[in-house]
Amino acid sequence: MTLASPPSSVVSTRILDRTEVARDVILLGIEAPELVEKVRPGHFAMALLPGGQAAGVALGIYEARGERCSLLFFIAGDRTRRLGALRVGEMLDIVAPLGNGFDCGGKARDIAIVAGGVGIASVLLPAQAFLARGARVRLFYGARTAERLVEAERFATEGCDLSIATDDGSRGHHGVVTELLAREPAPEAILACGPTPMLRAVSAYAQERNVPAQLSLEEAFGCGVGGCWGCVVPIIGSSAQAPSFPPSDADGSDVVHARVCVEGPVFWAHELRW
Ligand SMILES: Cc1cc2nc3c(=O)[nH]c(=O)nc-3n(C[C@H](O)[C@H](O)[C@H](O)COP(=O)(O)OP(=O)(O)OC[C@H]3O[C@@H](n4cnc5c(N)ncnc54)[C@H](O)[C@@H]3O)c2cc1C
Ligand code: FES
Repeated sequence: MTLASPPSSVVSTRILDRTEVARDVILLGIEAPELVEKVRPGHFAMALLPGGQAAGVALGIYEARGERCSLLFFIAGDRTRRLGALRVGEMLDIVAPLGNGFDCGGKARDIAIVAGGVGIASVLLPAQAFLARGARVRLFYGARTAERLVEAERFATEGCDLSIATDDGSRGHHGVVTELLAREPAPEAILACGPTPMLRAVSAYAQERNVPAQLSLEEAFGCGVGGCWGCVVPIIGSSAQAPSFPPSDADGSDVVHARVCVEGPVFWAHELRW
């Protein structure tokens, strides 16, 4: 993955467009030319609510082209509801770009992207990066119901091969998305973003078949910028993403704690020790 965290800053953006792509799912286009220059696949933003009284909201950067970036989010609670109420022309401050994103280099030509729920918002940029260098991209996309599947056709239009699963069988495979992945020929590389049980299943699949997998973790964030250590996950100390502080345990364990918001959110599956 891209290991040099980008220089992030507070970016004042103007809302260019707002679309409710499904019930309680909002796509906000924001004017942010300087962010388009800096953002890499898998980076995220902390969106700062007007008034500054609530913690920022971690959101993947969905699109980045020309002068416009976009944020695609599901209304989950109070802060996402308030973000969803913003109107075209209003200002939105974000801290971005943040984190270490996906490594979209290498020689792999057959890529599987596995997305669950809101994870879809973090995988368009990597899909576009792989497609631009001529790779085949298979998107395995799972959601609770057909109503919660958003933007699937957008990925197909970009050139991804689509496989869909819903928990209730209302569209595509009736079951979890990793069952679909296991049915198909193994890819050369996997990228995944979604809920932890899905990521664990992807990790097990990747290790069984010896396929390199990068997982973007959905930890709940406090500060989102490295200050509170509220988002740590155990990884092997020899990982290039292992933080230099705190040091490894004195008991000789090779496991250290990495902050998902700074050292991640993307980690190699084989380096995580959850
Ligand atoms: C790196 C990162 C990128 C993200 N990108 C996106 C994105 O692009 N689009 C999007 O819709 N959401 C994304 N999320 C999740 C988003 O940050 C949360 O939905 C949001 O913070 C909820 O805030 P709230 O105040 O509206 O709801 P809250 O009241 O804080 O939470 C409402 C419900 O959502 C659950 N929840 C909160 N945060 C998370 C989380 N991180 N993962 C799973 N469940 C959570 C809570 O447990 C609670 O049940 C991302 C999270 C992370 C860490
Ligand atoms: S959320 Fe505070 S350090 Fe990661």
